[in-house]
Amino acid sequence: MRYSSLPRRYWVAGIAAAVGLLAVATAAEESLPALIQRLQEEKPKFATRQQAMLADRYDLADRPAKDVTMSRGKPTQGGVRVKLPADMTWDKLAAMTPADVKEKGLWPAGFLPLPHPHHEAGGMIFPKFLIDETKKQTDRDLTRFDLDFDLPDHLLPEFPAAIYLTTRPDLGDVSKGKLVTLANFNELFKDALNPKQLEGLRLLVTPFPQQQFNATEDRRSAKAHQGVACFDCHANGHTNASTHTVGDIRPNEHRHRIDTPSLRGVNVQRLFGSQRALKTIEDFTEFEQRAAYFDGIPADAAKKGTNVLERGSQVHFMAEFQALLDFPPAPKLNVFGKLDKSKATEAELRGQEVFFGKGQCATCHVPPYYTDNLMHNLKVERFFKEVTVNGRKASADGPIKTFPLRGIKDSPPYLHDDRLLTLEDTVEFFNLVLELKLSAQEKDDLVAFMRAL
Ligand code: HEC
Ligand code: HEC
Repeated sequence: MRYSSLPRRYWVAGIAAAVGLLAVATAAEESLPALIQRLQEEKPKFATRQQAMLADRYDLADRPAKDVTMSRGKPTQGGVRVKLPADMTWDKLAAMTPADVKEKGLWPAGFLPLPHPHHEAGGMIFPKFLIDETKKQTDRDLTRFDLDFDLPDHLLPEFPAAIYLTTRPDLGDVSKGKLVTLANFNELFKDALNPKQLEGLRLLVTPFPQQQFNATEDRRSAKAHQGVACFDCHANGHTNASTHTVGDIRPNEHRHRIDTPSLRGVNVQRLFGSQRALKTIEDFTEFEQRAAYFDGIPADAAKKGTNVLERGSQVHFMAEFQALLDFPPAPKLNVFGKLDKSKATEAELRGQEVFFGKGQCATCHVPPYYTDNLMHNLKVERFFKEVTVNGRKASADGPIKTFPLRGIKDSPPYLHDDRLLTLEDTVEFFNLVLELKLSAQEKDDLVAFMRAL
């Protein structure tokens, strides 16, 4: 049958349907240049939204605390940075019941879960100082065309971080002030490690394909990419506050932003991941590559080039190196992990009293490493009604790992999702969550104690 023999309305409808189909096909197969252009046009809108939310929640100023630095000298930021609702004080808030705080909507916004820099897009995102140094040393560009990291540098861990080896405490910091990459790891470590550990370290600084950084057209780097190395996030075996959305939760609005944890002291830990509770470093190493790198989507992993590590050698070697990473020295602690009275200040000693007494912190943060290797449900949702903030539904967190507090001043921001910027913030947070009613003096002392850990 020829078209011309059909009534006009049929072929008009036919053409319209064909055009419609074509539009669907183009949307599904948007070319990479078109995708880049579209997402770059949208980028400022989401960046502005995130910065407005951060400014609303926190005081982001560069205000170092007196007389305290991270291990290699970066100033530690001081003061409570979470903003209070209008006409509120921390003491007034602490005097209220959780139900009352919830009912009146008085929970400080900074104590709600923190959304990813662009929550709907999600994925791995690195601070600029890491991107710049990696590019300089290895020519690999970790810039995403669709989004940038959100928090200012002064609130992040020291970069590059110090590295302490359990096997060679005599050497102190072995980083020589450099970021360890594929370009320099051998030179830096050939004399301090055995060949097996050195091979483990090589794999930890070797990039492997990942959801946003790969060689397919479904990526967020301008150029085809080799991928991401473990130490792009766990820089120098510590953390640079690179972030990601957790692979385990759906739908996307419920997925947690996750702060890269330090690998210092993983050797004494028994649970890995803020919620996953994997039982060995080997399991977590394998999980990162097979699942976390691809947001828990095996089909994407297959398409984008997952690097399946061999368990008996590669995973084992990588885990062996990770297990050498020690906490930073804490010269004021004795062998029990408590303050040596001859070295500690009055404030630190009073803080220790509160930590083990009225604060009940040691119920979960048990010395010498200040973790109980368990997970706890802090039930923070007692204090607020469910609310969606920038694409993230603030709801119940569920049980979360008790992160160790040894060396804690070196790894801001705090909590699994970076929602707290200073140790002062963590004290106000736990004062409310645990309903402790600490005095101003007790709070200051707790901070002094945690800085000594
Ligand atoms: C986005 C940057 C990123 C990269 C790249 C990365 N990690 Fe992680 N890593 C994280 C985050 C975030 C977590 C916390 C996960 C969670 O809370 O569920 C984590 C957790 C871990 C843990 C558990 C630590 C703990 O205290 O519970 C280990 C071990 C680990 N990663 C090893 C690795 C290894 C090995 C690689 C390379 C194969 C790697 N990571 C690559 C961000 C990263
Ligand atoms: C019931 C167990 C429990 C008690 C009691 C407790 N904590 Fe925690 N602590 C946790 C858990 C669980 C986390 C991780 C929470 C998260 O990431 O959402 C945590 C996290 C922290 C962090 C941040 C760690 C990091 O790496 O980001 C600090 C600091 C901290 N606690 C200090 C304290 C202080 C101070 C007290 C006492 C006033 C205290 N905690 C009492 C379980 C506890």
